[in-house]
Amino acid sequence: MNIMGKVTAIVLAAGKGNRMHSEIPKQYLEVYNKPILYYALHAFEQSQVDNIVLVTRQEDIAYCKEQIIDKYGIQKVTDIVQGGEERYWSVYNGLKTCRETGYVLIHDSARPCIGVERINEMIEEVVRIGACTFGVPVKDTIKVVNEDGYGIDTPPRRYLWQIQTPQVFEAGLIKEAYERLYNDTTAGNITDDAMVVEHYMDRTVKMTMADYKNIKVTTPEDMDIARIFLKA
Ligand code: CTP
Ligand code: MG
Repeated sequence: MNIMGKVTAIVLAAGKGNRMHSEIPKQYLEVYNKPILYYALHAFEQSQVDNIVLVTRQEDIAYCKEQIIDKYGIQKVTDIVQGGEERYWSVYNGLKTCRETGYVLIHDSARPCIGVERINEMIEEVVRIGACTFGVPVKDTIKVVNEDGYGIDTPPRRYLWQIQTPQVFEAGLIKEAYERLYNDTTAGNITDDAMVVEHYMDRTVKMTMADYKNIKVTTPEDMDIARIFLKA
């Protein structure tokens, strides 16, 4: 694939997984004898992306290289870079390696159920639209609560989507957005990449219907759900 530069996937695996309450970060917990991180790397390996940039903690770089990338023969990983304290700093470090890249897909390694076909669809979508994110309409009613835990607003459900990854952007757009974030000393509460583009580039990001199976493994019961979806 070579439409206006390479297509690069940044796979984020530098979190500590606090909400999982396990000894090791959740991306290294095993499902069917393979670490969670393996599944996303394998999906991108099979997809049309040209290269993969893996972002991990410094102390896990050797483990990732030997026990996942080399062991399972993942060939598209060109860089393994150190992450930062927050997810957005991990993204920023990953973006710094994207020099010849035309399009960037940013993916949470904690979403092991991502499908190869969906990745390829997102690449076609970003070539047309320039900035898009995966998501699904919420199934539950969502409430805004105050500090005391009382509901104060119930936004109409038809406008509410749960955001997933990959989030996909023209490389120039996402790199500029993150440069502006980097230079903004007041920045905070950044939980996805689309909001960085929306905020700093004054640009809307297209919501693309994803798959309810593309869960983020976050808390212990999610391990059981991932096992079911990864069985196929
Ligand atoms: N991530 C990262 N660098 C960070 C924080 C998160 O690369 N400083 C990655 C995680 O490894 C994960 C993805 O971003 O694949 C989504 O983050 P999240 O689900 O919040 O993972 P953690 O931050 O590890 O978990 P928790 O918030 O429960 O501590
Ligand atoms: Mg987190």
